[in-house]
Amino acid sequence: MESSLSNLILTLFNSINMSISRARLDRFISEKCQINRKKVRLLLAQKRVSVDDVITSDTAQIIDKFSLIKLDGQIIQENQAFYIMLHKPIGVVCATKDNKHKTVIELIDLNLTSAEKASLHIVGRLDLNTSGLVLLTNDSRWSEQLTSPVNKVAKRYLVTLKNPIHSEYISAFANGMYFSYEDITTKPVELNILSQYCAEVFLTEGRYHQIKRMFGRFDNPVIALHRTSIGSYILDESLPIGESKFIENIRSNIF
Ligand code: URA
Repeated sequence: MESSLSNLILTLFNSINMSISRARLDRFISEKCQINRKKVRLLLAQKRVSVDDVITSDTAQIIDKFSLIKLDGQIIQENQAFYIMLHKPIGVVCATKDNKHKTVIELIDLNLTSAEKASLHIVGRLDLNTSGLVLLTNDSRWSEQLTSPVNKVAKRYLVTLKNPIHSEYISAFANGMYFSYEDITTKPVELNILSQYCAEVFLTEGRYHQIKRMFGRFDNPVIALHRTSIGSYILDESLPIGESKFIENIRSNIF
């Protein structure tokens, strides 16, 4: 009886491809394996289910799409999360497809399958002619935490200007600038002058061409723009331009 139930369950989960973000364990098993909650509770009570290789009997345990779930030692869900840092060159577009330019996805060469590559999305885009740190992932909870305005995650940029930078820029950036097209005032931006033509800028939002437009108010064109960090994720400057690498131990280190 028990083993036939188990076989039935395993046959069913193989034919169902359900993806979840977050769910209670009992609900997940019930839907994935097409069995009622009573039977799920029984399986859990019999200690036949593990989450991330730990046996559990907790029906209300919250799991996500990257939790490794096994029934009787057989995998019923296994999805790998990818967290990638790319050193974006100028001339490559932050898009998944483009007819004209090479895309950041095309630059990723980490032995990912084409399905794994297709699952990636970009965490905060850069303009075509901006270089530096681009993060990519298939974990939307992580990317949402990094990009949500509520979290005010600071992105650091190094900016080279055509004309000398003046100290009056500092307060103008800190006070915010009105962008009539979007009808918004930019959030306070920290600007530190590094030399006559170079500054570092910290943005907590990402308006269209924001840095170029802000310096544009002073008729000072941006010659070069390079992103060095997003929150606590710092571009590994030893990573050659155009190359990428996996970021490890991400789940305990969101910011
Ligand atoms: N601001 C810009 O103008 N361009 C970028 O790529 C990022 C911020």
